[in-house]
Amino acid sequence: MYGENIDTATPTGKHNTTASTFAESVLAGLALPQKTLPCYWLYDTRGSELFEQITKLPEYYPTRTEVGILQTNIGEICEAIGPGASVVEFGAGAGTKTRLLLSALVTPQNYIPIDISADFLESAMTHLAADYPTINITPIVADFTSPEALVKATLPGNNRLGFFPGSTIGNLSDIEIADFLSGAKKGLGTDAQFLIGIDLVKSTDVLIPAYDDAAGVTAAFNLNLLQRINREISGCFDLDNFKHEARWNQSDSRIEMHLVSQIEQAVRVGNQTFSFRKGETIHTENSRKFTLKRFEALAQNNGWRLKQTWIDENDYFCLALLG
Ligand code: AVI
Repeated sequence: MYGENIDTATPTGKHNTTASTFAESVLAGLALPQKTLPCYWLYDTRGSELFEQITKLPEYYPTRTEVGILQTNIGEICEAIGPGASVVEFGAGAGTKTRLLLSALVTPQNYIPIDISADFLESAMTHLAADYPTINITPIVADFTSPEALVKATLPGNNRLGFFPGSTIGNLSDIEIADFLSGAKKGLGTDAQFLIGIDLVKSTDVLIPAYDDAAGVTAAFNLNLLQRINREISGCFDLDNFKHEARWNQSDSRIEMHLVSQIEQAVRVGNQTFSFRKGETIHTENSRKFTLKRFEALAQNNGWRLKQTWIDENDYFCLALLG
């Protein structure tokens, strides 16, 4: 599933769960008045491959914009972080962004990636260790979005840095963001810094195509969830009867992914049947877009101060250093 150079193969850090938890979660989500499935189920093997393809699409600006910000400002970013850093990366690391950072930091001491997939961590870290022989690499297998995992990341070193690129924070709910940021403060220590990628509010002319590309890769990524349900827990979804849709929700400042039922239909999953009206949707993902003011307030409410930001020339994306 993973390649050496994948930045965020399982961005939400939760794919490696049992069939019974998947079944329980799907059955509960389809029984809600607004049918809703947690976005971390999008990342099975096929979903992770499709997500990697998404990151390279012309319409999907976040990945290349964030890499561009890092490349352009890496000297200044590393100066702000300071020498002797111990870097804790939340989610699958070892990709372009990690390497850019580790290569430019002054005498980094430790690199501690936290990811749910032990297999991925093992193979990625073998490659990384060969390229960075002076950095002490200590992977932690855990779900990084839970505060317990962060507490485990209590670290050696006196210049500790959290690293969370990719704007995955936008896929979390407000409560999850609060838990994550306050948990990171606790786990990293009150004097730590945190370098985090956030996707900024922008025109829907840019946002909608980024989540509904011409080649149909994002549609395939979204529809793959129905395929996964069919394959893993005896679902009977006819994929031709659902269509991917990306919507801008202005009041919650987020892109939403939905699967829209094209007809009135009943679908069996395991031994339960779910009815769909024509036009009814399954809500599969939120991708929050922040204003700097809103992000700063979120950070402040959860123990962090916004120290410095780096933004591309289009104001699409921001790398923020919190302290
Ligand atoms: C992983 N995450 C930051 C992506 C995003 O942009 O919210 C997931 C994604 N969904 C559709 N396209 C990309």
